Amino acid sequence: MKKSREPQVNLFKKSSPYKGKVLKNEKLTPDIGKGKRPSKEGASDINRISIEIDHKQLPYVIGQSLGIIPPGIDPEKAKKGGENTGYTVRLYSIASPTYSIGMKEDSVEFIIKRDNTYDEAGRAIHKGVASNYMCDLKQGDEVDITGPSGKTFLLPNSDFDGNIFFCATGTGIAPFYGMTVELLEHKLIQFTGNLYLIYGAPYSDEIVLREEFETLAKNHSNFHFITAISREEKNPFDGGKMYISHRVRELGNKIKESLENNGRVYICGGPKGMEKGVIEELQKIVGDTGDNKEYQNKLKSSNQLFVETY
Ligand SMILES: Cc1cc2nc3c(=O)[nH]c(=O)nc-3n(C[C@H](O)[C@H](O)[C@H](O)COP(=O)(O)OP(=O)(O)OC[C@H]3O[C@@H](n4cnc5c(N)ncnc54)[C@H](O)[C@@H]3O)c2cc1C
Ligand SMILES: NC(=O)c1ccc[n+]([C@@H]2O[C@H](COP(=O)([O-])OP(=O)(O)OC[C@H]3O[C@@H](n4cnc5c(N)ncnc54)[C@H](OP(=O)(O)O)[C@@H]3O)[C@@H](O)[C@H]2O)c1
Repeated sequence: MKKSREPQVNLFKKSSPYKGKVLKNEKLTPDIGKGKRPSKEGASDINRISIEIDHKQLPYVIGQSLGIIPPGIDPEKAKKGGENTGYTVRLYSIASPTYSIGMKEDSVEFIIKRDNTYDEAGRAIHKGVASNYMCDLKQGDEVDITGPSGKTFLLPNSDFDGNIFFCATGTGIAPFYGMTVELLEHKLIQFTGNLYLIYGAPYSDEIVLREEFETLAKNHSNFHFITAISREEKNPFDGGKMYISHRVRELGNKIKESLENNGRVYICGGPKGMEKGVIEELQKIVGDTGDNKEYQNKLKSSNQLFVETY
């Protein structure tokens, strides 16, 4: 039986990266104009990318991220002159469990969205360098990887009987896929609590890995899969968009009881700062009237709140 391992950081640096090989690159969302998203909003292209790595050399822990070095020269840096004209490393959350899908310790997965800027007609006017590089990769391509990075956004490393709430927006779902599989199926620790995944996306067909999560919910009665579809559903409180914070409010009593009993809340995704709304809900639920940041720090220091927003 495999056990949780300690996170190691910075095993590979930009100057001597790990070289991974692409096993699979699969688009998870509909083509522009073919899904629920109106074409004038541009595309929401999210890919699942699987890369061959040897865990003996690159032993990551779910919750950590890896760095990707896009190949080529950054024109902005080149303009300024100087020696280091390569692109800056971009971080991506690891989406596969600690010992990989299938527990073979042979790969790592990512969930990456092409980070493009669209004009009012839905045309891409700026394309994110690293995310497009990753989403364009073909089977067999070699990728330069740095890291791992991160030592705090981690699952419990010993048996745990509290309830756990995962709150994700967009690609913030990435770490929670691996974490859910690890907690429910790989069982590196004995987890006897309930697991709630609250996942927000603009449109219902941009909820990625839905089938996988629904199968996990069917097979594990302690796993609850909850979505918040902001541009299709209205929240019952003020009739506005349905956000993950409204789902948190709906779960009020359960969350209050869970936080009083060692429960944990994890928040991941964008936009940066979105955790504030979720934490405000937690505060209201438990009846804390203090400062949001202070409450946030209190929960963090008692190992009850974990935030990774970008
Ligand atoms: C800890 C962590 C984990 C992360 N995990 C994930 C993850 O799992 N999945 C994921 O998809 N992302 C994740 N990210 C985000 C990721 O690191 C990158 O920030 C993201 O992919 C964008 O990088 P890029 O190189 O594609 O875009 P960049 O090239 O850096 O561009 C960024 C944005 O600026 C826009 N832009 C560029 N030039 C201009 C210009 N001249 N004018 C106007 N706009 C411009 C681009 O269109 C783009 O929208 C994570 C970030 C962090 C910090
Ligand atoms: N993944 C990336 O490539 C990446 C990288 C870096 C930064 N970001 C930033 O992260 C943000 C989301 O990006 P994404 O494309 O990954 O996600 P996405 O697919 O757009 O999903 C984000 C979801 O969160 C909702 N939301 C917005 N503000 C919220 C808040 N305060 N509280 C709760 N939910 C909220 C959104 O609703 P509405 O949109 O309908 O309001 C949407 O349903 C963007 O602002 C982007 O700039 C993304």
